[in-house]
Amino acid sequence: MKTSLVCPHRILALLLTFAAIGSLPVYAQSKPVPNAQLASKQVNARVDALLRQMTLEEKVGQLAQFSAGYATGPDASNVRYDTLAANGQVGSLLNVVGVEATNHYQHIAMEKSRLKIPLLFGQDVIHGHRTTFPVPLALAASFDPAVAELVAHYGATEARADGIPWVFSPMVDIARDPRWGRIVESAGEDPYLGSAMARAWVKGYQQDDLSKPDSVAVCVKHYAAYGGAIAGRDYNAVDMGEITLRQVYLEPYRAAVEAGAATLMSSFNSINGIPASANPLTLTQILRKEWGFDGFVDSDWGAVGELVNHSIGDGETVARKALEAGVEMDMEGNLFGTVIAAQVRAGKIPESVVDEAVRRILRVKFALGLFDHPYTPDSPAYDATPERRAAARKVAGETFVLPKNDPVEGVGALLPLAAKAKKVALIGPLADNKNEMLGAWAVTGDPKYAVTLKTALAERLGDRLLYAQGCGLLSGEDANVLKRVNFNGPVGANQKEAVPDDAKTIAEAVATAKKADVAILALGEPANWMEGEASSRVNLGFTGSQEQLLEAVVATGKPVILVVLAGRPLELKWAASHVPAILEAWSPGVEAGHAVADALFGDVNPSGKLPVSLPRAVGQEPLYYAQLPTGRPAHGDLSHMPQSADEKFMSRYMDEDNSALFPFGWGLSYTRFSYSQPTIGRAQVPVREVLASHAPVTQVGVDVKNTGSVAGTEVVQLYIRNTAASVEQPVRELKGFARVTLAPGETQHVVFPLGFDELNFYNAEIKRTVEPTTYKIWVGGSSLATAESSLQVE
Ligand code: BGC
Repeated sequence: MKTSLVCPHRILALLLTFAAIGSLPVYAQSKPVPNAQLASKQVNARVDALLRQMTLEEKVGQLAQFSAGYATGPDASNVRYDTLAANGQVGSLLNVVGVEATNHYQHIAMEKSRLKIPLLFGQDVIHGHRTTFPVPLALAASFDPAVAELVAHYGATEARADGIPWVFSPMVDIARDPRWGRIVESAGEDPYLGSAMARAWVKGYQQDDLSKPDSVAVCVKHYAAYGGAIAGRDYNAVDMGEITLRQVYLEPYRAAVEAGAATLMSSFNSINGIPASANPLTLTQILRKEWGFDGFVDSDWGAVGELVNHSIGDGETVARKALEAGVEMDMEGNLFGTVIAAQVRAGKIPESVVDEAVRRILRVKFALGLFDHPYTPDSPAYDATPERRAAARKVAGETFVLPKNDPVEGVGALLPLAAKAKKVALIGPLADNKNEMLGAWAVTGDPKYAVTLKTALAERLGDRLLYAQGCGLLSGEDANVLKRVNFNGPVGANQKEAVPDDAKTIAEAVATAKKADVAILALGEPANWMEGEASSRVNLGFTGSQEQLLEAVVATGKPVILVVLAGRPLELKWAASHVPAILEAWSPGVEAGHAVADALFGDVNPSGKLPVSLPRAVGQEPLYYAQLPTGRPAHGDLSHMPQSADEKFMSRYMDEDNSALFPFGWGLSYTRFSYSQPTIGRAQVPVREVLASHAPVTQVGVDVKNTGSVAGTEVVQLYIRNTAASVEQPVRELKGFARVTLAPGETQHVVFPLGFDELNFYNAEIKRTVEPTTYKIWVGGSSLATAESSLQVE
């Protein structure tokens, strides 16, 4: 039997040590140095030498950033970038892509500006640059940080070759409400999973050395708590207690900073009444003082100027507040460059504040090697290489989640399809739509390279494949919704087609299904302009007439497999009770069709797990497994009738279950896994020992067995519950996971370390601590895991 020690996120875990330890609480330990390059004497000496030569105007110039390409927000500026670069009035440009364009501006900065300070080019590289990988939410479903690292590495390599040494990624916002369209960019609802992915993204992009020719600096966004928007409406206020803020929402940013993140992006939202882009608690106290961050903070697009709308002052005041709180660069706000210098001269802002901001920006430019190598060498035009396509296909294969695969009478389980399929009807508006395969943030990905499911299935099935579109992605949708989706104009590249006569096309699809042995429906929602930024929804169903299409095909009695292609959790309640097999395929990227076909035919055994709870009804949102307890826990099952008045007044809905349709961590396989009872290395541990260091103090072991007949990969998950803390703790929290690949009949012993990092929480004094208590511990294949054990901290 194999044994694996699970060390998902840190080498320290390998140092299982049970030595006697002193009593110093960990939160009192000295200031961390998250990025040695930015803290290095050599870099800082060069920064200081340059700073001494700079005029005040040149200093504030470094704080200004403009988009010299397309707009990813309201167009705020109409400035001449050549002139600004020549005059040293801009420190960074975004949305300038390609060797020619970036070198053009860089030559101006290096040849015409007085101090020859290179420009820093930034770009949204979110799930690959030229080669488009699955969207970040899908990558999180792999529960495999190594895939995020790989995607980041490819993104970095391609971006750097395109003149871009700085990427606006990773997005590490905790997202617990799928009404919020930006959930697609996130790692989902859980801080432990989110932190593991955050570390991996940073490592993949920066490789612990910004000066490497294939490294880029990250910009971790959107700091802070942007995903906590009230009612899931983008840009909306965030209002939550500081404990939840720190323990849940800030954790992935902390992980990214500890992994060496060079920059962060300050978010649009307010946090408890203080806008995040001028928030001394998150920017000064937490980021600089507690986490020891030496890099710089870029504002999100226009976020400094928008502080005026937050009603905290006029342009001058908000610029001052943002800068003093710790925003060093003003993206597209045109404020830092124009209103700061005068305030310094008037004595309203100490020049040392400006110096500190410039110092932080220059540090990153030096560490990236831009002063020594400002230009990007010519490279061959991008061509989707077989190697990168293969990587995109393999990665996508890890991200698919199989929520359901019930046997059908007389047929058995529909998936994998294998040889069973004689004639297959492929139906749906996402079956053959290249644009939609790339996902919501594929700014530089080219849809011409995308492979659709129709193409991939035709390669396998030839004329055994039948096809009908069934309906448009938005046909039948409200006219006003269409106007919003198609805001770029009816002939724009983003135009979403609405098939005029749904009834006819659905009837055609029904006829097609009737001719086949099995129907595969490829349904979802438009990735562009209905997912991602400014794309909140109050309905989480399939868009347009797709649900009717599904119902009509199911009514034929033919076995149906539903492939969901969407970057947010959709409401699948009807489907879950009428369709035997569902594959959640997200937005799979450039190799979408091949990757989905691999899973449908069993060449790839699905191993993804849900990084977000799938709701039964939108009214349950925000729905997440790590809920805080209630004094009136209920039978949340709708079919349960209250036995007495006592049972009536419980925390539940009158018209729906409490539980998720498919919970966090859920996902089936073409094989089955069994779990032994978890064992605890030491079941009693003194609290002093836990508090003394980050080293593990005990370990949880479990045997996982593949009891089916094909090889498969299981994501083994460890959950804990602190049953008696001074501040109430969630009913379950993920604190470990591991992907384990097992041959049929094979068993593996999996070991999870436990120590301060897994057991701590914030107490009422807002300090991370551990107290004497009992932890319940579960290990299993989802957040419903039942194999239980316990740990006593005395
Ligand atoms: C988005 C950011 C993005 C920036 C630059 C903003 O509108 O919120 O995520 O990085 O634009 O494109």
